[in-house]
Amino acid sequence: MTLCVLGIESSCDETGVALVDMTENCWPVLLSHALHSQIPLHQAYGGVVPELASRDHIRRVLPLLEQVLADAGRSLPDVDVLAFTRGPGLAGALLVGAGVACAMGAALGRPVLGIHHLEGHLLSPFLSDDPPEFPFVALLVSGGHTQLMQVDGVGRYHMLGETIDDAAGEAFDKSAKLLGLAYPGGPALASLAQQGDCTAFAFPRPLLRSGNLDFSFAGLKTAVMVQARKCAAAHHCSVDTLAQPVLANLAASAQAAIVDVLVKKSLAALQQTQINRLVVAGGVGANRCLRDQLNAACERLEIKVHYPAMHLCTDNGAMIAMAAAMRIQSGRQTASTIYAFDVKPRWSLDAIDS
Ligand code: KG4
Ligand code: ZN
Repeated sequence: MTLCVLGIESSCDETGVALVDMTENCWPVLLSHALHSQIPLHQAYGGVVPELASRDHIRRVLPLLEQVLADAGRSLPDVDVLAFTRGPGLAGALLVGAGVACAMGAALGRPVLGIHHLEGHLLSPFLSDDPPEFPFVALLVSGGHTQLMQVDGVGRYHMLGETIDDAAGEAFDKSAKLLGLAYPGGPALASLAQQGDCTAFAFPRPLLRSGNLDFSFAGLKTAVMVQARKCAAAHHCSVDTLAQPVLANLAASAQAAIVDVLVKKSLAALQQTQINRLVVAGGVGANRCLRDQLNAACERLEIKVHYPAMHLCTDNGAMIAMAAAMRIQSGRQTASTIYAFDVKPRWSLDAIDS
């Protein structure tokens, strides 16, 4: 029997909707997905404005739903299960996806399922043609989270280490902002870094010798700010009028510090668990420098690395539909016809079943 699962993602600044087909004994198959990014909406403010995010999700979600149904050649009654991101994320934004999924579930008489956003990222490489096998180590690197997990199966996640302050994506975003780059800073900083020398400035690599798998990125933005001010003083200008080559060197050196820590801690996690498969997921997983360095290190150590497709690294509905289908298929969870929904703006992945 095949079930059609609809996924809605609305935890932050992208509205994502997708359909997957789920059949016994094989991984679910993506039928269609559509995304609306709110980047232009928030750019003027230099970051996500929660109230605007919620309002925009409301505007976008139904047209995106119509689009994915049309692209897949399906209609609403063909949808068997409705999944939504239950958390973590912005409360008002999460409530839009949850409300729409539960209202449609109630109207169609179909069950609903709330999905952990990070589980969506974690399982997103299963959308690729070369899905990983369990168990694997996962490096989850998004705007709000940086975690190393041991993944033994669907829903069986053990935290190995996490950031004690800023996330890797946050480090990219905050460093980018200091250098006058537009929101979202990660891709902008990565692009500027391509023209720079990553050895120009020695930024700190905290906790590298801590003996555990935790991260700390909060100090990087201060180090970038101090260095940028020094450069500005040396060039008799302000930070925002620094010449492009100097900015590029700052960007490349900041990126190198973040990537270096992520790579070394990932290798330490693989060593500690004696697992030889690594999954990299979340927005920072789209970073070319991180991918190149992980690929080189893992090739040397005969470790297989899996990434989601570039366009599925950042938030999307496909990963939510996929995670829902995999949870149902593996027997971890059944979808519910109780439509009294809630959301969990703060929700740890290792407390996923609580
Ligand atoms: O997973 P995601 O889309 O949203 C969250 O769940 O947070 O991740 C967004 C984060 C942002 O911090 C963004 O700047 C970063 O991922 N990001 C990147 C790149 N693309 C997105 N960081 C570095 N290099 C990139 N190419
Ligand atoms: Zn995300």
